[in-house]
Amino acid sequence: MSFHLKSYLTEKQTLVDRELNAIIAQETHAPSILLDAMRYSLLAPGKRLRPALVFMALQAAGGSDAQALPAACAVEMIHTYSLIHDDLPAMDDDDLRRGMPTCHKKFGEALAILAGDALQTLAFQLLAERLPAESAAKCCLELARGSGAAGMVGGQVEDLAWERAHVGARAAKDPLFPRTKQPQSLDALEHIHQHKTGALFRACLKLGVWSAQGERPGGPDADLLQTLDLYARNFGLVFQITDDLIDVEGDTANTGKRVGKDAALGKLTYPGLLGVPESRQRAESLSRQAINAVRPIGAAAEPLVQLMEYVLQRDR
Ligand code: IPE
Ligand code: IPE
Ligand code: MG
Ligand code: MG
Ligand code: MG
Repeated sequence: MSFHLKSYLTEKQTLVDRELNAIIAQETHAPSILLDAMRYSLLAPGKRLRPALVFMALQAAGGSDAQALPAACAVEMIHTYSLIHDDLPAMDDDDLRRGMPTCHKKFGEALAILAGDALQTLAFQLLAERLPAESAAKCCLELARGSGAAGMVGGQVEDLAWERAHVGARAAKDPLFPRTKQPQSLDALEHIHQHKTGALFRACLKLGVWSAQGERPGGPDADLLQTLDLYARNFGLVFQITDDLIDVEGDTANTGKRVGKDAALGKLTYPGLLGVPESRQRAESLSRQAINAVRPIGAAAEPLVQLMEYVLQRDR
């Protein structure tokens, strides 16, 4: 049977959006203005790629859609919180996200910070409430590792530290950020990208497998976890290379966010370091590695292969 990525993504997006809506609606004891800000950013038209990866990993592990929903919603909540905070004036200072004014432009900085905080904790609440004990514990652990100080948040700090060390005006605003200029290197760049973006993608695939197989005696299939992790490492890098390329070559109408900002802010990016053609070549080579990593799992690899091809070619 042939696999159609576009209809698959639409179907999963519909499922996830409906569930996210219902979850926010259940938070009846929270201030309504806070819920408005959370809902505003969470249900804005994002691509929902992280939930899709949860579904794909879960399917490769033999699970059912219903089992995937808590983890799929949790990773989207973490991702949305990271976007809300990433856009704040103290960070990338953006006014447009997912085709709409950023959360702080719409609700003010204080509510945007708090909406991000609340989405983050709600993600873990959801896993703890909805998954069986063993899977819940492991999913919380992997999501915390991927999104925390040694993962996404750490990567965001390094992204900003690099920028602050290279752009005088913003460096002066932030005296505590490290000022030593390190030489630009592929290693430094890959380190930032693996953390700020890659770590959450790796968590998505792990959560998919744990949601399907967490209650099995002996735990999930270790080979499958390893195979999907190799895919995820390469996928995450390709994703951020294409994000960097879109910032150089893309347009706001398509992406729903401002472009041309990375160079202006002094970010360390692939096109900034390697130029556009070599960045593209690198993305192609890494995407082949991701695809080769999952070939051994046979038919179950097809969705992951097609998603990798889509991400390589994406323009939004
Ligand atoms: C953007 O992520 C932020 C990065 C990690 C580069 P996406 O491109 O997945 O954003 P949405 O979810 O589609 O808005
Ligand atoms: C964002 O990277 C990474 C996280 C939100 C963790 P970017 O700063 O490049 O994302 P965009 O380009 O603003 O979406
Ligand atoms: Mg950023
Ligand atoms: Mg940004
Ligand atoms: Mg970017």
